[in-house]
Amino acid sequence: MDPNTDHIVPLDSDHPGFRDKAYRQQRDKIAKVATKFWEDWNAANDAGKDPKTVPIPVIEYTEKNRQTWRRVFRTLHPLHKKNAISGYMEGLEDLQITEDEIPQLADVSEQLESITGFRLVPIEGLVKAREFLTSLLNKEFPATQYIRHHEVPGFTPEPDLCHEILGHAVLLTRDDITELAVLIGKAADVATDTQIKELERLYWFTIEYGLCEENGTIKTYGAGNLSSYHDMERCVDPSQVEHRPFDVGTIIQDDYDPTIQQPHLYVVSSFEDALYEIRDYCTSIYE
Ligand SMILES: [Fe+2]
Repeated sequence: MDPNTDHIVPLDSDHPGFRDKAYRQQRDKIAKVATKFWEDWNAANDAGKDPKTVPIPVIEYTEKNRQTWRRVFRTLHPLHKKNAISGYMEGLEDLQITEDEIPQLADVSEQLESITGFRLVPIEGLVKAREFLTSLLNKEFPATQYIRHHEVPGFTPEPDLCHEILGHAVLLTRDDITELAVLIGKAADVATDTQIKELERLYWFTIEYGLCEENGTIKTYGAGNLSSYHDMERCVDPSQVEHRPFDVGTIIQDDYDPTIQQPHLYVVSSFEDALYEIRDYCTSIYE
């Protein structure tokens, strides 16, 4: 029997939680509250009220979830210290993220908003590229609230709370990363389908998997790397990943495969210069 027929959230048969009933029930429950959030959001909008007043749902996490979070946090922490872009550890502290407790999206969002104005909004799972990228324009970052399956904490086939918090939210405390996100959002808002594809690639090779050079050492600012043990180790090692110089014109044409470990990544030698290039490209779409 296919367990997918009993559940709201479909999972691939090779997903570590595919046959775990309790895990799947929790995933369904979390999906339902995200759907309800957007119903309330739209109702508030229609009634002329500020939808930002709709509270982000608080999730009841299980002991298994907490164990997974602790394991992910503990394993990644020394790697973050070593290989993450400067400012990462400060961002972690500013958002008061520790291994002790799974952060609630609402709390992190509130802290983040007071720092860079970015808010986190709950989503059920992956959303369409145009919808996702356009939300960045309003300084809204769509984020999932479920936790990866406890049996495989080193890997998640889809973005989970560990990825959203340890990857995205911490980085969104930096002004240059938020500027980059908003630029992509502004361009996505008016982009053609071809341009959306280009913006997706730009987003992928920067916000998801970006590398940068700091005092002659390669560091990462990509959420995909920052939330995975394997990627965090290998991304900075040129014998495992080919490091290419950052170039917007090349990146927007570079088709990637999201299902494999990335064979090459792009290194920014100066964030300021990279932003200049990105600003140039994005404004050519929205101006
Ligand atoms: Fe992501």
